[in-house]
Amino acid sequence: MVLPVYVYGMSVLRRVASEIPEDFEGLDQLIEDMFETMRASDGIGLAAPQVGKSVRIFVVDTSPISEDKGEPELKDFKKVFINPYILEEWGDSWSFEEGCLSLPNIREEVSRLTNVRIEYYDENWNLIEEEFDGIRARVVQHEYDHLDGKLFVDQINPIRRKLISARLNAISKGRVDNDYKIIYPKK
Ligand code: NI
Repeated sequence: MVLPVYVYGMSVLRRVASEIPEDFEGLDQLIEDMFETMRASDGIGLAAPQVGKSVRIFVVDTSPISEDKGEPELKDFKKVFINPYILEEWGDSWSFEEGCLSLPNIREEVSRLTNVRIEYYDENWNLIEEEFDGIRARVVQHEYDHLDGKLFVDQINPIRRKLISARLNAISKGRVDNDYKIIYPKK
């Protein structure tokens, strides 16, 4: 089922999400719904708080941009990260334009480190430790931030932030032109 996406201004996006217990009810359905929602809104990553669930899980699927970016490893990067924990980040700081389904139509340069080592459970509760770099690391870092209540606009330079403040405000009032269903704060 495609779920509505919670956008900027919704408090669930600012909460630190809770760990998922192994007997969490409806986990398989949540994972399926998150993939469906991500595909329906042309996203390459989606964290549970973005569908209103304050739990530590995110999904990624970068296959839609693999040709575009000319990076074959993006084609197979489709995964579920349950209770992830970033063990280490290293490398150079690089800037890349990010977007977010909770911030429709906003794209800004965000600076992050190139490499990440992360521990997480997959959908079968296997504990996995993996390293990513480049765009895959970027997607993981972005989605991971959602679980700690952070959005990429928190990290952009103050001048850019000021320039887009009116647009952020409009998003929180539901005044956006996008083609997926959203939930924004009611007055
Ligand atoms: Ni996002």
